Amino acid sequence: MSILVTGGAGYIGSHTVVELLELGKEVVIIDDLSNASSKVIDRIENITGKRPAFYQLDVKDKNALRTVFEKEDIESAIHFAAFKAVGESVQKPGLYYENNLMGILALVEVMLEFDVKKIVFSSSATVYGSFNPSPYKEDMPVGVPTSPYGQTKVMCEQILRDIYVADNNWSISLLRYFNPIGAHESGLIGEDPSGIPNNLMPFIAQVAVGKREFLNIFGDDYDTEDGTCVRDYIHVVDLARGHVKALGKLDQDKQVYTYNLGSGKGTSVLELVNTFVQVTGVEVPYKIAPRRAGDLPVFYANADKALAELNWTTEKSIEDMCRDTWNWQSKNPNGYQG
Ligand code: WQD
Repeated sequence: MSILVTGGAGYIGSHTVVELLELGKEVVIIDDLSNASSKVIDRIENITGKRPAFYQLDVKDKNALRTVFEKEDIESAIHFAAFKAVGESVQKPGLYYENNLMGILALVEVMLEFDVKKIVFSSSATVYGSFNPSPYKEDMPVGVPTSPYGQTKVMCEQILRDIYVADNNWSISLLRYFNPIGAHESGLIGEDPSGIPNNLMPFIAQVAVGKREFLNIFGDDYDTEDGTCVRDYIHVVDLARGHVKALGKLDQDKQVYTYNLGSGKGTSVLELVNTFVQVTGVEVPYKIAPRRAGDLPVFYANADKALAELNWTTEKSIEDMCRDTWNWQSKNPNGYQG
């Protein structure tokens, strides 16, 4: 029996596949490689000694999906495949709604046809919107995210909840990620953004490796200890292990489960930059720039529920996240391009 991982060649997907393979699970990856490299499959094999089945296809393509379900013995799915750039989603909302909503709808329709009713969904802390106070708890009402990207996460969660209402034989886990950074400790897989990175850690890493001159810190006049924004950074390997635990939970009881996957601790932009410099010994020049539109001053998780119900908690520190990011970036200055 295999676990279908959509978007399994991507950043979080590939780390999750590694954890699953290392536990002896069978994995089938589908990925259209629109934001990932086929080299990831080789790297996963290098790390684990096992080569997952891989199909290059778009999750929206129901006929292609059906052929995978016909050939493989799929028992559950982890759905990562989606567009994820917040700023781009503001510019191209139609693209984001189409891709992210049609993707999940195609997947659950084909799963239903093949009587596969276990799914873990890659959601985001952005679903809490801007009015809920931190730390975010799973029982807070879903808010109004400021971007179409965030809205697609809210809508996908709702689609899955409605599917469960219609058929209680589904078992569903909605995982709300905070800020995933870091890389596998081998340095063989990691985050490889195309173009100019939108997110903080890939930008720091590209400055450190000399690809960019300096980091812009977006605002130092927030109402926080050092004036820069505070986020809940989580090592991608911890995050991947959270998926494994969440998947296991689906066998216990058929329900819709919702979990925050975060550390429960806030770290400021300046703290992250300073820790990176300390751990790696590499300089990261920065300038203070104006605030970035839409940024919240502070958000972090209450991570108690995942600990209580999944026996999952983060194990890796901010230092580990910086060291592993640098190990990946310095070994792969151009990402998977060589
Ligand atoms: C972190 C902090 C920036 C870049 C976003 C999405 C969220 C999730 C993860 C997932 C902020 C500051 C950043 C830079 C900076 N999406 N920053 N200079 O905004 O918390 O979350 O990504 O798929 O849904 O909203 O993460 O890494 O972009 O920013 O100063 O060059 O770093 O202002 O305070 P964010 P981020």
